[in-house]
Amino acid sequence: MIRIVPTTPFSDQKPGTSGLRKKVVVFRQPHYAENFIQATFDVLGDVAGQTLVLGGDGRFWNREVIQVALRMAAANGFGRVIVGQGGILSTPAASHAIRLYRAFGGIILSASHNPGGPNEDFGIKYNIANGGPAPEKITDAIHARTLVIDSYRILDAADIDLDAPGETRLGDMIVQVIDPVADYADLMESLFDFGAIRTLIAGGFRLSFDAMHAVTGPYAVEILERRLGAAAGSVVNGTPLADFGGHHPDPNMVHAHDLFDRMFGPDAPDFGAASDGDGDRNIILGRGIFITPSDSLAMLAANAHLAPGYARGLAGIARSMPTSAAADRVAEALGIPLHETPTGWKFFGNLLDAGHVTLCGEESAGTGSDHVREKDGLWAVLLWLNILAVRGEPVAQIARAHWARFGRNYYARHDYEGVDSAAADGLITALRDKLPTLAGTRIGNLIIAAADDFAYHDPIDGSDSRHQGVRILFDGGSRIVLRLSGTGTSGATLRVYLECYEPADGDLGRATPDALADLIAAADTIADIRQRTGRAQPDVVT
Ligand code: G1P
Ligand code: ZN
Repeated sequence: MIRIVPTTPFSDQKPGTSGLRKKVVVFRQPHYAENFIQATFDVLGDVAGQTLVLGGDGRFWNREVIQVALRMAAANGFGRVIVGQGGILSTPAASHAIRLYRAFGGIILSASHNPGGPNEDFGIKYNIANGGPAPEKITDAIHARTLVIDSYRILDAADIDLDAPGETRLGDMIVQVIDPVADYADLMESLFDFGAIRTLIAGGFRLSFDAMHAVTGPYAVEILERRLGAAAGSVVNGTPLADFGGHHPDPNMVHAHDLFDRMFGPDAPDFGAASDGDGDRNIILGRGIFITPSDSLAMLAANAHLAPGYARGLAGIARSMPTSAAADRVAEALGIPLHETPTGWKFFGNLLDAGHVTLCGEESAGTGSDHVREKDGLWAVLLWLNILAVRGEPVAQIARAHWARFGRNYYARHDYEGVDSAAADGLITALRDKLPTLAGTRIGNLIIAAADDFAYHDPIDGSDSRHQGVRILFDGGSRIVLRLSGTGTSGATLRVYLECYEPADGDLGRATPDALADLIAAADTIADIRQRTGRAQPDVVT
């Protein structure tokens, strides 16, 4: 029986950079998840008989919301829901499933790299038929709908068994529980030369992949250990846990420090990598070297043709605005376009669909291609392994050769987390106000060439996105970008992105903090960071 449940709006359901993210306690309020899911369905229009993909990163509250979403999908007329076994689908695997099964769209339950557990974070995100995150036009409509919603539809039914693959009926709808790994692993096998990677590994090449007790564990064990022959134990922390073992499933120097210790320690493996809560992020390390995500995008772009799936070359490259310009130099050398978009993967979707770009990347440990419409952690790992197998050189040598050809973009991001929201807004407002006066100002050895608030005009759908981050550009190509996070769940997070370019004949072996010291000081002078946030240091440097 379908029930129409009266409800009242919540005022805080505005989706951020990547869907609606809140503390679990917020999601546990009666009707909270239901309101958001119904608002999403309402915006989609006629979904009668359509297919929906559903899955999440396995964090606390995943199974509960899956059951609710299934009963609501049935009550809203969907014909079929394809759900990952155990309620599991990594974000890239969900994107692939939407495309493979020609679904109308998908619901992904995740708060990505944010911690999980009863007192931590949860999230709901809607992806459209191309497999990518809903564009702002849709998320804005969902938000508007959440503000006026007065009822939702749900089927009265018992819980579905999520652990048994196969089909079950839920009202008039079919629930199809699928193996969450197999289709995705097959896709990877179609893009990369698994034979060459197997030979590399059989020849003694050692790798370490830290799944951080998050969703990529089963994917990495199947692909790296079973299909590619990496030794058992190459995947560490491979069992997904509802609270990620009490850690942040965020692959960076702070939260993946065991991996960094291993890769910089004695007898380090040849290759190290980690992914995040929902499997869309990646970090790449070689023995004794960390490849920044911005550099990784550039190096992958320069070498992608070595993998069968990209042998025809790249149509173009896209990067988010705060990502370093390292990829721009590769695009120039390849004679292909480079697109600069606002932060968030949703801005790449149109460019990918239109065939204007093949590779995309963000400084926040996200890289991907036109194979799905999300960033993809294991995909980046496999493209690196394919390149290493063909070139037969260590990671560090590939990086040094890259810088010797293109120059090096020294880069870091400083995050100030849990800052008082009013203070953070005040900082950005004050900065915006003084933008028109900044050009020509000298700060230490640096001269400001231009300053603006980044705006993006989508060349495909003509939409405009304003206020996407303050940019301070210096003579010589150095840059500071400041913006507030759109994914945090408590207070505000101020992100300060710092970049300085060293030409190919310059000093390519500096320590990053030294190379960026002047810019770090300039950022404080221009934005009054210490004064306004009350913080002497960033909480996280990536
Ligand atoms: C952060 C990253 C951004 C990424 C997003 C989702 O968003 O900076 O690149 O797309 O997470 O993974 P932010 O918190 O900065 O809005
Ligand atoms: Zn993620």
